[in-house]
Amino acid sequence: MTNLYSKIIGSGSYLPEKILTNHDLAKIVDTSHDWIFERTGIEQRHIASKNESSVDMAYKASLKAMSMAQLSSNDIDMIIVATSTPERKFPSTAVLLQNSLKVEQGFAFDINAACTGFIYALDVADKYVRAKVAKNILVVGSEKMSSLLDWKDRNTCVLFGDGAGAVILSESTAPGVLSTNIGSNGSYKDLLTVNIDPEFIEMKGNDVFKIAVKTMGKLAVSTLEKNNITIDQVDWLIPHQANSRIINAIAKKISLPSEKVILTVNKHGNTSAASIPLAFDDAYHNGSLKKGNLIMLEAFGAGFTWGSVLLKF
Ligand SMILES: CC(C)(COP(=O)(O)OP(=O)(O)OC[C@H]1O[C@@H](n2cnc3c(N)ncnc32)[C@H](O)[C@@H]1OP(=O)(O)O)[C@@H](O)C(=O)NCCC(=O)NCCS
Repeated sequence: MTNLYSKIIGSGSYLPEKILTNHDLAKIVDTSHDWIFERTGIEQRHIASKNESSVDMAYKASLKAMSMAQLSSNDIDMIIVATSTPERKFPSTAVLLQNSLKVEQGFAFDINAACTGFIYALDVADKYVRAKVAKNILVVGSEKMSSLLDWKDRNTCVLFGDGAGAVILSESTAPGVLSTNIGSNGSYKDLLTVNIDPEFIEMKGNDVFKIAVKTMGKLAVSTLEKNNITIDQVDWLIPHQANSRIINAIAKKISLPSEKVILTVNKHGNTSAASIPLAFDDAYHNGSLKKGNLIMLEAFGAGFTWGSVLLKF
Protein backbone atom coordinates (compact mmCIF):
# COMPACT_ATOMS: atom_id res chain seq x y z
CA MET A 1 0.00 0.00 0.00
CA THR A 2 1.37 3.45 -0.88
CA ASN A 3 1.80 5.92 1.95
CA LEU A 4 -0.53 8.87 1.99
CA TYR A 5 0.88 12.25 2.97
CA SER A 6 -0.33 15.79 3.20
CA LYS A 7 1.85 18.23 1.28
CA ILE A 8 2.06 22.01 0.92
CA ILE A 9 1.33 22.81 -2.73
CA GLY A 10 0.52 26.50 -2.45
CA SER A 11 1.45 29.46 -0.28
CA GLY A 12 0.35 33.07 -0.09
CA SER A 13 0.52 36.02 2.27
CA TYR A 14 -0.80 39.48 2.86
CA LEU A 15 0.57 42.40 4.84
CA PRO A 16 -1.37 45.62 5.43
CA GLU A 17 -0.12 48.68 3.62
CA LYS A 18 0.68 50.77 6.70
CA ILE A 19 4.15 50.26 8.17
CA LEU A 20 4.87 51.39 11.72
CA THR A 21 8.60 51.72 12.42
CA ASN A 22 10.32 51.73 15.80
CA HIS A 23 10.98 55.42 15.23
CA ASP A 24 7.23 55.99 14.79
CA LEU A 25 6.59 54.14 18.07
CA ALA A 26 9.14 56.28 19.90
CA LYS A 27 6.80 59.21 19.22
CA ILE A 28 3.90 57.41 20.95
CA VAL A 29 5.52 55.72 23.99
CA ASP A 30 8.72 56.10 26.00
CA THR A 31 10.93 53.81 23.89
CA SER A 32 13.60 53.95 21.21
CA HIS A 33 14.51 52.16 18.00
CA ASP A 34 17.71 50.89 19.63
CA TRP A 35 15.93 49.40 22.67
CA ILE A 36 13.35 47.57 20.57
CA PHE A 37 15.87 46.35 17.98
CA GLU A 38 18.44 45.18 20.53
CA ARG A 39 15.92 43.32 22.72
CA THR A 40 13.72 41.86 19.99
CA GLY A 41 15.26 42.24 16.51
CA ILE A 42 12.13 44.10 15.39
CA GLU A 43 12.56 47.16 13.14
CA GLN A 44 9.02 47.61 11.84
CA ARG A 45 5.58 45.98 11.72
CA HIS A 46 2.50 46.29 9.48
CA ILE A 47 -0.73 47.66 10.95
CA ALA A 48 -4.16 46.92 9.48
CA SER A 49 -6.51 49.78 8.76
CA LYS A 50 -9.56 50.35 10.95
CA ASN A 51 -11.87 48.55 8.53
CA GLU A 52 -9.50 45.70 7.68
CA SER A 53 -10.26 42.49 9.62
CA SER A 54 -8.56 39.13 10.01
CA VAL A 55 -11.06 37.80 7.44
CA ASP A 56 -10.04 40.44 4.86
CA MET A 57 -6.36 39.65 5.35
CA ALA A 58 -6.97 35.89 5.28
CA TYR A 59 -8.94 36.31 2.04
CA LYS A 60 -6.07 38.07 0.25
CA ALA A 61 -3.47 35.54 1.43
CA SER A 62 -5.75 32.61 0.52
CA LEU A 63 -6.33 33.78 -3.06
CA LYS A 64 -2.55 33.77 -3.61
CA ALA A 65 -2.12 30.31 -2.06
CA MET A 66 -4.95 28.94 -4.23
CA SER A 67 -3.45 30.52 -7.32
CA MET A 68 -0.02 28.95 -6.66
CA ALA A 69 -1.71 25.57 -6.07
CA GLN A 70 -3.79 26.10 -9.23
CA LEU A 71 -6.98 25.38 -7.32
CA SER A 72 -10.32 27.14 -7.49
CA SER A 73 -13.02 27.57 -4.82
CA ASN A 74 -14.63 24.34 -6.03
CA ASP A 75 -11.54 22.35 -5.07
CA ILE A 76 -11.27 23.37 -1.40
CA ASP A 77 -12.99 20.89 0.90
CA MET A 78 -11.92 22.22 4.30
CA ILE A 79 -10.74 25.54 5.77
CA ILE A 80 -8.97 26.08 9.08
CA VAL A 81 -8.09 29.57 10.27
CA ALA A 82 -5.71 29.95 13.21
CA THR A 83 -6.47 33.26 14.88
CA SER A 84 -6.83 34.94 18.27
CA THR A 85 -8.28 38.05 16.67
CA PRO A 86 -11.49 36.89 14.97
CA GLU A 87 -13.63 39.45 13.14
CA ARG A 88 -16.68 38.26 15.10
CA LYS A 89 -17.26 36.01 18.11
CA PHE A 90 -19.28 33.92 15.68
CA PRO A 91 -19.54 32.86 12.89
CA SER A 92 -15.90 31.83 12.92
CA THR A 93 -13.26 33.59 10.84
CA ALA A 94 -12.97 30.40 8.77
CA VAL A 95 -16.68 30.38 7.91
CA LEU A 96 -16.56 34.09 6.99
CA LEU A 97 -13.53 33.33 4.82
CA GLN A 98 -15.38 30.41 3.22
CA ASN A 99 -18.10 32.87 2.27
CA SER A 100 -15.65 35.49 0.91
CA LEU A 101 -13.93 32.83 -1.21
CA LYS A 102 -17.30 31.52 -2.45
CA VAL A 103 -16.45 28.02 -1.26
CA GLU A 104 -19.82 26.30 -1.16
CA GLN A 105 -18.80 22.80 -0.06
CA GLY A 106 -16.97 21.26 2.86
CA PHE A 107 -16.58 22.79 6.30
CA ALA A 108 -14.60 25.48 8.08
CA PHE A 109 -13.55 26.24 11.65
CA ASP A 110 -11.11 28.33 13.69
CA ILE A 111 -8.34 27.22 15.98
CA ASN A 112 -7.11 29.37 18.83
CA ALA A 113 -3.75 28.26 20.18
CA ALA A 114 -2.36 31.83 20.25
CA CYS A 115 1.05 32.04 18.56
CA THR A 116 1.12 28.24 18.05
CA GLY A 117 -2.19 28.33 16.16
CA PHE A 118 -0.79 27.67 12.69
CA ILE A 119 1.14 24.61 13.91
CA TYR A 120 -2.01 23.27 15.61
CA ALA A 121 -3.94 23.90 12.38
CA LEU A 122 -1.36 22.01 10.31
CA ASP A 123 -1.43 19.15 12.82
CA VAL A 124 -5.21 18.86 12.46
CA ALA A 125 -5.21 19.35 8.67
CA ASP A 126 -2.56 16.65 8.19
CA LYS A 127 -4.72 14.18 10.11
CA TYR A 128 -7.83 15.00 8.05
CA VAL A 129 -5.89 14.43 4.82
CA ARG A 130 -4.41 11.14 5.98
CA ALA A 131 -7.83 9.99 7.26
CA LYS A 132 -9.07 10.69 3.69
CA VAL A 133 -11.72 13.12 4.92
CA ALA A 134 -10.34 16.04 2.90
CA LYS A 135 -8.12 16.35 -0.18
CA ASN A 136 -7.35 20.06 -0.35
CA ILE A 137 -7.29 22.02 2.90
CA LEU A 138 -6.81 25.76 3.11
CA VAL A 139 -4.82 26.44 6.29
CA VAL A 140 -4.53 30.08 7.28
CA GLY A 141 -3.00 32.14 10.07
CA SER A 142 -4.49 35.62 10.20
CA GLU A 143 -4.11 38.18 12.96
CA LYS A 144 -5.00 41.76 13.72
CA MET A 145 -2.82 41.94 16.83
CA SER A 146 -3.00 45.74 16.78
CA SER A 147 -6.62 45.43 17.96
CA LEU A 148 -5.39 43.84 21.23
CA LEU A 149 -2.72 46.40 22.05
CA ASP A 150 -2.70 49.03 24.74
CA TRP A 151 -0.82 51.75 22.85
CA LYS A 152 0.23 53.27 26.20
CA ASP A 153 2.01 50.06 27.32
CA ARG A 154 5.56 50.07 25.98
CA ASN A 155 6.10 46.53 27.31
CA THR A 156 3.75 45.08 24.71
CA CYS A 157 2.78 47.57 21.99
CA VAL A 158 6.25 47.49 20.41
CA LEU A 159 6.20 43.72 19.90
CA PHE A 160 3.26 42.87 17.66
CA GLY A 161 2.06 43.36 14.09
CA ASP A 162 -0.75 42.39 11.69
CA GLY A 163 -0.89 40.12 8.65
CA ALA A 164 -1.97 36.79 7.20
CA GLY A 165 -0.37 33.75 5.62
CA ALA A 166 -2.03 30.78 3.96
CA VAL A 167 -1.05 27.39 2.60
CA ILE A 168 -2.87 24.68 0.70
CA LEU A 169 -2.27 21.27 2.22
CA SER A 170 -3.18 18.53 -0.25
CA GLU A 171 -3.24 14.78 -0.47
CA SER A 172 -0.01 13.39 -1.93
CA THR A 173 1.77 10.09 -2.42
CA ALA A 174 5.12 11.91 -2.27
CA PRO A 175 6.43 12.77 1.21
CA GLY A 176 5.16 16.07 2.62
CA VAL A 177 4.37 16.49 6.32
CA LEU A 178 6.56 13.91 8.06
CA SER A 179 5.62 14.54 11.66
CA THR A 180 3.68 16.92 13.87
CA ASN A 181 4.02 17.38 17.58
CA ILE A 182 1.86 19.68 19.74
CA GLY A 183 1.51 20.33 23.45
CA SER A 184 0.04 22.71 26.01
CA ASN A 185 0.13 23.55 29.72
CA GLY A 186 -2.63 25.79 31.07
CA SER A 187 -0.92 26.43 34.40
CA TYR A 188 0.95 29.29 32.69
CA LYS A 189 -2.32 31.02 31.76
CA ASP A 190 -1.47 34.33 33.47
CA LEU A 191 2.00 34.92 32.02
CA LEU A 192 0.66 35.93 28.61
CA THR A 193 -3.02 36.70 28.36
CA VAL A 194 -5.81 38.81 26.93
CA ASN A 195 -8.70 39.28 29.33
CA ILE A 196 -12.19 40.15 28.17
CA ASP A 197 -12.30 43.58 29.81
CA PRO A 198 -10.08 45.43 29.12
CA GLU A 199 -9.18 43.46 25.99
CA PHE A 200 -5.42 44.07 26.02
CA ILE A 201 -2.36 41.83 25.86
CA GLU A 202 -0.75 41.50 29.27
CA MET A 203 2.60 39.73 29.51
CA LYS A 204 5.36 38.91 31.96
CA GLY A 205 7.91 39.22 29.15
CA ASN A 206 10.94 37.97 30.97
CA ASP A 207 9.25 34.78 32.24
CA VAL A 208 7.76 34.12 28.80
CA PHE A 209 11.17 34.60 27.23
CA LYS A 210 12.90 32.03 29.44
CA ILE A 211 10.20 29.36 29.12
CA ALA A 212 9.94 29.93 25.34
CA VAL A 213 13.66 29.33 24.86
CA LYS A 214 13.65 26.23 27.06
CA THR A 215 10.50 24.70 25.56
CA MET A 216 11.32 25.41 21.91
CA GLY A 217 14.90 24.18 22.34
CA LYS A 218 13.70 20.89 23.85
CA LEU A 219 11.00 20.56 21.20
CA ALA A 220 13.46 21.00 18.33
CA VAL A 221 15.72 18.32 19.78
CA SER A 222 12.82 15.89 20.30
CA THR A 223 11.51 16.54 16.76
CA LEU A 224 14.89 15.53 15.32
CA GLU A 225 15.10 12.46 17.56
CA LYS A 226 11.55 11.35 16.84
CA ASN A 227 12.26 11.46 13.10
CA ASN A 228 15.65 9.88 13.46
CA ILE A 229 17.41 12.70 11.65
CA THR A 230 20.43 14.86 12.41
CA ILE A 231 20.48 18.63 12.30
CA ASP A 232 22.65 18.75 9.16
CA GLN A 233 19.80 17.09 7.22
CA VAL A 234 17.52 20.05 7.97
CA ASP A 235 17.56 22.71 5.23
CA TRP A 236 15.53 25.35 7.07
CA LEU A 237 14.13 26.17 10.48
CA ILE A 238 11.08 28.44 10.29
CA PRO A 239 10.36 29.39 13.89
CA HIS A 240 7.55 31.52 15.25
CA GLN A 241 8.75 35.09 14.85
CA ALA A 242 8.47 36.75 18.26
CA ASN A 243 11.98 37.73 19.15
CA SER A 244 15.29 37.20 17.32
CA ARG A 245 17.05 36.49 20.63
CA ILE A 246 14.66 33.58 21.30
CA ILE A 247 15.25 32.31 17.75
CA ASN A 248 19.05 32.59 18.01
CA ALA A 249 19.04 30.74 21.33
CA ILE A 250 17.08 27.83 19.81
CA ALA A 251 19.38 27.65 16.76
CA LYS A 252 22.38 27.59 19.09
CA LYS A 253 20.86 24.85 21.21
CA ILE A 254 20.43 22.55 18.19
CA SER A 255 23.71 23.69 16.53
CA LEU A 256 21.91 25.01 13.46
CA PRO A 257 23.86 27.71 11.58
CA SER A 258 22.00 31.02 11.43
CA GLU A 259 22.07 30.89 7.58
CA LYS A 260 19.52 28.06 7.84
CA VAL A 261 17.05 30.03 9.98
CA ILE A 262 14.30 32.06 8.33
CA LEU A 263 14.03 35.41 10.07
CA THR A 264 11.24 37.90 9.33
CA VAL A 265 10.58 39.31 12.80
CA ASN A 266 12.59 42.40 11.80
CA LYS A 267 10.00 43.25 9.10
CA HIS A 268 6.79 41.82 10.55
CA GLY A 269 7.06 41.93 14.36
CA ASN A 270 5.15 39.19 16.18
CA THR A 271 2.07 38.40 14.10
CA SER A 272 1.08 35.48 16.34
CA ALA A 273 -0.58 32.66 14.36
CA ALA A 274 0.27 34.41 11.08
CA SER A 275 4.00 34.54 11.70
CA ILE A 276 5.04 31.12 10.39
CA PRO A 277 2.98 31.14 7.15
CA LEU A 278 4.12 34.75 6.53
CA ALA A 279 7.76 33.70 7.02
CA PHE A 280 7.24 30.60 4.86
CA ASP A 281 5.80 32.65 2.01
CA ASP A 282 8.49 35.32 2.29
CA ALA A 283 11.22 32.66 2.16
CA TYR A 284 9.55 30.91 -0.78
CA HIS A 285 9.28 34.09 -2.80
CA ASN A 286 12.84 35.25 -2.11
CA GLY A 287 14.10 31.90 -3.42
CA SER A 288 15.35 30.50 -0.09
CA LEU A 289 12.91 27.57 0.09
CA LYS A 290 13.29 25.06 -2.71
CA LYS A 291 11.14 22.07 -3.63
CA GLY A 292 12.48 19.00 -1.82
CA ASN A 293 13.85 20.99 1.15
CA LEU A 294 13.47 19.48 4.63
CA ILE A 295 11.90 22.17 6.81
CA MET A 296 11.20 22.34 10.54
CA LEU A 297 8.45 24.70 11.71
CA GLU A 298 8.25 25.49 15.39
CA ALA A 299 6.12 27.73 17.59
CA PHE A 300 5.38 28.72 21.17
CA GLY A 301 2.54 30.83 22.51
CA ALA A 302 0.09 31.79 25.24
CA GLY A 303 -1.33 28.94 27.29
CA PHE A 304 1.40 27.92 27.09
CA THR A 305 1.05 26.08 23.81
CA TRP A 306 3.84 24.78 21.60
CA GLY A 307 4.32 22.62 18.54
CA SER A 308 6.53 21.58 15.65
CA VAL A 309 6.04 20.27 12.14
CA LEU A 310 8.71 18.55 10.08
CA LEU A 311 7.97 18.55 6.37
CA LYS A 312 9.40 17.97 2.95
CA PHE A 313 8.46 20.88 0.69
C1 LIG B 1 9.44 41.81 26.14
C2 LIG B 1 10.94 41.69 26.10
C3 LIG B 1 11.49 42.18 24.79
C4 LIG B 1 11.53 42.53 27.23
O1 LIG B 1 12.92 42.38 27.28
P1 LIG B 1 13.64 42.09 28.66
O2 LIG B 1 15.07 42.07 28.37
O3 LIG B 1 13.03 40.86 29.24
O4 LIG B 1 13.27 43.38 29.47
P2 LIG B 1 12.48 43.49 30.85
O5 LIG B 1 11.05 43.08 30.71
O6 LIG B 1 13.30 42.82 31.91
O7 LIG B 1 12.53 45.06 31.04
C5 LIG B 1 13.75 45.73 31.19
C6 LIG B 1 13.48 47.21 31.30
O8 LIG B 1 13.11 47.73 30.02
C7 LIG B 1 11.91 48.50 30.14
N1 LIG B 1 11.14 48.41 28.91
C8 LIG B 1 10.15 47.54 28.60
N2 LIG B 1 9.68 47.80 27.38
C9 LIG B 1 10.40 48.84 26.90
C10 LIG B 1 10.39 49.56 25.70
N3 LIG B 1 9.54 49.25 24.71
N4 LIG B 1 11.27 50.55 25.53
C11 LIG B 1 12.13 50.88 26.50
N5 LIG B 1 12.19 50.24 27.68
C12 LIG B 1 11.33 49.22 27.87
C13 LIG B 1 11.20 47.88 31.31
O9 LIG B 1 10.28 48.82 31.86
C14 LIG B 1 12.34 47.58 32.24
O10 LIG B 1 12.69 48.76 32.92
P3 LIG B 1 13.04 48.74 34.48
O11 LIG B 1 14.23 47.83 34.60
O12 LIG B 1 13.30 50.16 34.75
O13 LIG B 1 11.81 48.19 35.13
C15 LIG B 1 11.37 40.22 26.35
O14 LIG B 1 11.10 39.83 27.66
C16 LIG B 1 10.66 39.29 25.42
O15 LIG B 1 10.83 39.34 24.23
N6 LIG B 1 9.88 38.35 25.99
C17 LIG B 1 9.18 37.38 25.22
C18 LIG B 1 8.03 38.04 24.59
C19 LIG B 1 7.41 37.20 23.55
O16 LIG B 1 8.08 36.76 22.68
N7 LIG B 1 6.13 36.98 23.69
C20 LIG B 1 5.38 36.27 22.77
C21 LIG B 1 5.70 34.82 22.88
S1 LIG B 1 4.70 34.00 21.79
